[in-house]
Formats: sequence, structure tokens, C-alpha cells
Amino acid sequence: MFNELPELGEFPENWKRMHLLGLEDLTREELLILLDKAQVFRTAFDEGRRKFSFLSGHTSVTLFFENSTRTRTSFSLAAQRLGASCVAFTASTSSLSKGESVVDTAKNLEAMGCESMVVRHSTPGIPHLLAENVNCSIINAGDGAHEHPTQGLLDILTMRQRLGSLEGKTVGVVGDIAHSRVARSNAWGLKKLGAHVIVCGPSTLVSPVWKEMGVEFSHSLDAILPRVDVLNMLRIQFERQYTSPFPSTREYSLLFGMNSERLRRGKSDLLVIAPGPINRGVELTPEVADGPQSAILDQVSNGLAVRMAVLWLTDGARKRIQNA
Ligand code: NCD
Repeated sequence: MFNELPELGEFPENWKRMHLLGLEDLTREELLILLDKAQVFRTAFDEGRRKFSFLSGHTSVTLFFENSTRTRTSFSLAAQRLGASCVAFTASTSSLSKGESVVDTAKNLEAMGCESMVVRHSTPGIPHLLAENVNCSIINAGDGAHEHPTQGLLDILTMRQRLGSLEGKTVGVVGDIAHSRVARSNAWGLKKLGAHVIVCGPSTLVSPVWKEMGVEFSHSLDAILPRVDVLNMLRIQFERQYTSPFPSTREYSLLFGMNSERLRRGKSDLLVIAPGPINRGVELTPEVADGPQSAILDQVSNGLAVRMAVLWLTDGARKRIQNA
């Protein structure tokens, strides 16, 4: 029933983290361990080896306080494909609406016996707070506009598969930078791998403060277009905005949307990615989204592999720490 995966090798001595809270804290070596193990799971997936027993007996809970399609399903499938059981907690129908705190909710779920919690919350730092208060592995699936480490990893894995080494490559992250956890996780991860990052969008959504992170900023997609090897097209996060950052969606897409004409002006092998959900006709036209230079659905397959690697690594570290 289960497949073997000898290519995964021994558990890496230098992986010591039972939580994955962000890419900012990771060393380059840890980042490479994650990417290399994810690649093993991705190759196996492509070869039809998709079900393993590494996490048999493990229960994972997805604790999502915000909407999700890809991330939640991907984590659930990743846990199941590693032989774990997975339970979904839905905030809107829980006792949170009766006033229970997030920490109390997590402690109650832990008391039922679970080894990992995959957490998405609109407040930055909630996964970090839970990591201090429970004994299971906490995996950040997006905390406000702070980080979304597994999205950053799957974006980087996709770039690495298409471009080889990211050393010296230029990656443009375009769109609603101000409200994007994906932009932050991309920037932290890519810089550790030697890539140059440019964040690009309207001046209301891109602050010069990014320079302090060693990231270039730009307010013109046309200006950066000839220089970039990859464009990561982010969604406008209307749900996190209190005022309108640009006059109209039409104007935004004229200035910052990726279309066939812009694709012709970019490098001939320019790679276009997007974390999803995509708004067709806003950040990308359908021709670009579905065209040969887009890796959007490939990113989704890589997401599953990344989450399998994250669950496997954090579970191994947790067992080592708790058995020591
Ligand atoms: C992103 C998110 O939720 O941060 N989506 C995702 O996880 N695939 C980006 C977005 O919602 O635009």
C-alpha cells in the first residue's frame, strides 16, 4: 500500500526545527535542506509514488482562521500522503465565536492528541505565540501580512526547477506588496539563495523601506521588465485594505498587469508565477496565465511536495527534541 522513498536518505543532522514559522529565521543551509527534500517528494510524485508511511500515527490539524483553497487542501493531502491523519478545524463554526482565545483553542486541540498544527491567521505572530504555548509542531500557513513560508518555498522550488541556481538571478515581485506575506517570504528566501529581488507596484503599495531589507523597489513594471528572470504576480489583497490604493482596477491592470505585449518585451525565457488565487484580467491576462511561460499549476504540485517535506522535517525534529 505504501511506497518506498530511499532517495530521501537519512534524517538530516542539521535540521533541528520542530516548527516552521517563517523563512526569515532560516539559514541558507536549512533552506536548501527543505528545497532538496521537497524535490525528492516532487520527483516521486511525478513517477507515481505518492503514498508513504513516514508519519503513520501522526495527527495533523489545519487551524485556519482565514479562507484558503490551495494551502489548506495541500497541507491535508501532504499529511495524508505521508500516512498521517488530518483533521480540519474551521474557525467560523468553533467556540472562538463564544469568546475562547486562540491559545486556549489550540491547547484543547492538543489535549485530544495531535502532533502538528498548520495555522493561518490574520494577525501576524499568532503561529509564534502558539509555538510558545503548545508542544506540537506549529507550521505557519500565513500570518497576516507577515510571512507565508511554504508559499515562499514552493515559489523558490519552481524557480529553481526552471532556472537552475538562483545565484545572480533577478526576481520581480509585482502587486500589493504592502499587504503581502508572500512578498516577504519570497524576499527572505530568495536573498539567502543569492537572487536579486525587486518589489514593484503603485507607490501606495510599495514602500522605500524595503531597501533596508536589501531589496530594490520600483513603481514601474515596464522599467523592470527587461531585467527580470522571473515575475511573481501577486493578487491585490482588497480584504486587507482600508482605503483604495489606486483609482480603478482597470488602471491598475494597465500599469501593473502582465499581458502578451509585456511578455514580448521581457526576456525570451521570462518565467511568470503567481501564488493564486488569480484574478484573470487584473494581475494577469488569461493568455499569460495559461501560456507556456506560466508555471502557475506547476507551483501547486510543488506546494504539495514542499508541505510533505516540511511535515517530515518538523516531525523528525520534534521527535528528537522530545525524546532527548
Ligand atoms: C496567498 C495567501 O493567502 O497569502 N495565497 C495562497 O496561499 N496561495 C496569496 C493571496 O491570497 O493572494
